Amino acid sequence: LTAPSLAGRRILVSAGPTWEPFDPVRFISNPSTGKMGYALATVAARRSGEVHLVSGPSTLAAPQGVRLSKVVTAREMQESVLALAPGMDAIVMAAAVSDFRPTEEAPQKIKKIAGEEAVRLTRNPDILAALGRSRPGGRHQVLVGFAAETENLIENAREKLIEKNLDFIVANNLTQSGSGFGSDTNQVKILDRDGTITELPCLTKEEVAEMVMDRVEQQLGKGEHD
Ligand code: C5P
Repeated sequence: LTAPSLAGRRILVSAGPTWEPFDPVRFISNPSTGKMGYALATVAARRSGEVHLVSGPSTLAAPQGVRLSKVVTAREMQESVLALAPGMDAIVMAAAVSDFRPTEEAPQKIKKIAGEEAVRLTRNPDILAALGRSRPGGRHQVLVGFAAETENLIENAREKLIEKNLDFIVANNLTQSGSGFGSDTNQVKILDRDGTITELPCLTKEEVAEMVMDRVEQQLGKGEHD
């Protein structure tokens, strides 16, 4: 009997959207449900990885054998991820982190006004880019990103792979049916640093998670031999 493939490996997965409040009852967000990230955590735990899932708001149940930290905002997700990052062998950021937050958060529910209301937004910190810059787990730590795009999928994904200094990136086209937010399936392309593009057929998110974890294992194996 061979040992389960991620035994002894510490894997951090992020999932879900973030909520960025305007006031106590309103927020800016996106349609992410967390399915891709929860599938990744499920698969990694099934392979005997020591898995920590940092999740934005999601109705999904905690996967078996996974440590779950629930957060709401991008800044909370950043705090949680950065605190865990140094001890992790691999980090897979599947969360759809809100790129912006309202500049001001009103302490009470904002009252209706007649006519137009302008809102000011501030950029949120890019958690994955910060990890790529500092590589808190050392040079053998595996960093994986997701790129959800509506146009120029390969170009945009490649740019993120390089800019965020990742080991590989999983690109998915949001305009394709059976892919993206809320779907049980995903059709993705995996881009490597050496320029290789692996095009996968439409698969369940759990099958995509298996392919992603296969690659994580491969990368971890490489790190051991150099
Ligand atoms: O730049 P973009 O948001 O498309 O990049 C997507 C990747 O970066 C995802 O892996 C996502 O989890 C991560 N990300 C992040 N922090 C942000 C925005 C995105 O970690 N503020």
